[in-house]
Amino acid sequence: MADQTAEFVVVANRLPVDLERLPDGTSRWKRSPGGLVTALEPMLRGREGAWVGWPGLADAEADPFVEDGLALHPVMLTAQEVEDYYEGFSNATLWPLYHDVVAPPAFHRHWWQAYVRVNQRFAEAVAEVASPGAVVWIQDYQLQLLPAALRALRPDLRIGFFLHIPFPPVELYQQLPWRKQVVEGLLGADLVGFHTPGGVRNFRWLATRFTEATPGSTRTEIKYGDRTVRIGAFPISIDSAHLDGLSRTDEVQQRAQQIRADLGNPERVILGVDRLDYTKGIDVRLRAFEELLQEGTADAEKTVMIQLATPSRERVEHYQKMRNDIEQSVGRINGEYARVGHPVLHYLHQSLPRDELAAFFVAADVMLVTPLRDGMNLVAKEYVACRGDLGGVLVLSEFAGAAIELKEAVLVNPHDTDGVKDALQRALTMPATESRKRMRSLRRQVLSHDVDRWARSFLDVLGLDTGGLPPS
Ligand code: ADP
Ligand code: G6P
Repeated sequence: MADQTAEFVVVANRLPVDLERLPDGTSRWKRSPGGLVTALEPMLRGREGAWVGWPGLADAEADPFVEDGLALHPVMLTAQEVEDYYEGFSNATLWPLYHDVVAPPAFHRHWWQAYVRVNQRFAEAVAEVASPGAVVWIQDYQLQLLPAALRALRPDLRIGFFLHIPFPPVELYQQLPWRKQVVEGLLGADLVGFHTPGGVRNFRWLATRFTEATPGSTRTEIKYGDRTVRIGAFPISIDSAHLDGLSRTDEVQQRAQQIRADLGNPERVILGVDRLDYTKGIDVRLRAFEELLQEGTADAEKTVMIQLATPSRERVEHYQKMRNDIEQSVGRINGEYARVGHPVLHYLHQSLPRDELAAFFVAADVMLVTPLRDGMNLVAKEYVACRGDLGGVLVLSEFAGAAIELKEAVLVNPHDTDGVKDALQRALTMPATESRKRMRSLRRQVLSHDVDRWARSFLDVLGLDTGGLPPS
């Protein structure tokens, strides 16, 4: 089956599973980190299709294989390409540039050359896998040249592209020395999707400014050569019903109680859950918590904070610095306010299984989501999906794409420390009548706008009928 071609192909830098080498020399596959996989994996499981991506290890030659009906096609990257294309251009140039330069992006020509080369390799891999006239759905900033590279090899394909991170304001994007090539790469698609209308606007302006493209007859169309490229906002979501169901199971409910008991049954549990990334504003929330403890507004005997952080991009310099800073803050806060056997702040630099994560969501009275910039932020939606009991308060950054939909969260400006402190204090003391009302409204949004609806809305515009996907 893995040798056959597919009519529906997803392409992302990563496969949904990562190859992990174990100390005894054997290897195994484990779930890949991040929101892209969280969103796409449940939608594709059990459906017939193919996923082309990197297995997450340098120099790993893996054969295609089938998992749960999905054919996985590994693309190999050398150690040098991991350094230049993945850690370099993708994560030290594009990632900070697209996240409002919250860290300074670095521009290196040899990183760019590796980006071009690897995008071309992906194009060749997809051209082999896609059957005639197939639909190919390309994901995210690591593969922005792929739409045009693939179209050059296979003009018969229908090509969609979705950007999982913000598309930056024009003034910032203009810094990129290869801005024209990247926009031209994206214009190779039939449909380019963003999370928010702001991303769509930025892209439309740039396309007509830096390439031969001209405005189309509507605001969701761009004329490019003899083609019309459609553009639009498609806010991504999660498998809400599944998570809702998981969070209601006896196992998860009991585990949540156990977590609270292990913490010493505090009155209030505050939670943060993120990939360990400098865009997530983990430092912001630690500062707010520390100041509330300092002022005595929060009581260390009654309030406990947990920060779960998935290891991420550990060889990239900004990530190393941020990890040191955060771990120093954790040590300082506990040093000052903990007692033996009673840390006030629990920090786990670990990736947890989904059911364990659901138990933490159920156990938390306040969920702190404070990114300085985030395309969507699925964690905020996951928390809401897990609160069928209408308990808990979500504090959410205005700079996360999710803030557009989750209006009943306590919204904060993460640059305003006093504002974050006020929001945290308000969440800790919010009367149940108000928090339940807010949670009810948040759940209405999250449960009715799930990831399947997101995928269908994108694929419908791309021109697929029967709701877009082969049935599961
Ligand atoms: P990003 O895509 O930038 O990583 P999102 O919030 O959109 O951010 O998605 C992160 C995903 O990773 C979510 O599905 C979240 O549940 C998961 N995740 C984050 N931290 C952990 C952790 N410590 N253990 C397991 N999963 C995690
Ligand atoms: C975000 C990005 C994804 C990426 C994920 C994990 O969700 O949008 O494209 O896969 O983070 O990051 P990583 O660098 O480990 O793939």
